[in-house]
Amino acid sequence: MRLDKLLANAGVGSRKNVKTLLKKGYVTVNGAIIKNGTMHVDENSDVIKVNETAIHYQKYVYMMMHKPPGVISATEDKREKTVIDLLPSDIKRFRPFPVGRLDKDTEGLLLITNNGELAHQLLSPKKHVDKTYYAKVKGVVTEEDCNYFARGVRLNDGYITKPALLRIIQQGDVSEVEIVISEGKFHQVKRMFLAIDKKVIYLKRTKMGKLSLDSQLNLGEYRELSEDELELLTKS
Ligand code: URA
Repeated sequence: MRLDKLLANAGVGSRKNVKTLLKKGYVTVNGAIIKNGTMHVDENSDVIKVNETAIHYQKYVYMMMHKPPGVISATEDKREKTVIDLLPSDIKRFRPFPVGRLDKDTEGLLLITNNGELAHQLLSPKKHVDKTYYAKVKGVVTEEDCNYFARGVRLNDGYITKPALLRIIQQGDVSEVEIVISEGKFHQVKRMFLAIDKKVIYLKRTKMGKLSLDSQLNLGEYRELSEDELELLTKS
């Protein structure tokens, strides 16, 4: 790729700053001063330095966010605050986007990346990546409900969901449950409960594939995925 593009992408500065650094002879490629930003470099093998500091080019970014309620899963919006608005500019420069959507009032694990291929793999209906949610549901959730969810639920548009694993954590006027689904239909969990006349009053995603939400992350916080987590995700 072009040297000036690589430097700008690596966060060295704006295109204009990069041009100045090059002109002043601060940039070296494999030890030689390079003033021409249009030069093509190999980001994997060439040693690129600015002021003697090695530059590491990163193509992709992978973030785990504990999505708070009140923000939407989109990259930009005229009226609403988005999950991307919560990120600092050194992450935003990768042009990341959320992988799939959580409703505005839903909390929990949201993956944010600029790797379109990985996003596509995780969202593809063919891949059946499991999504695990913790929910509080108004009404007594029963074993019968669990059996019904295991067979597939008929939603209000007639669609019958794939089998879902419903586990009761606590039964009561407000029940606490864990539910694992392998699809991502619009408002799916809420609509599955509506089909049995029960209302979800709190929803939090805890897992996506084999990747779990880091319990150290507070609402609205985020961090980069570790190598191991990324591997877990690609194997999900
Ligand atoms: N199901 C829902 O109903 N809402 C979400 O945000 C995610 C799954």
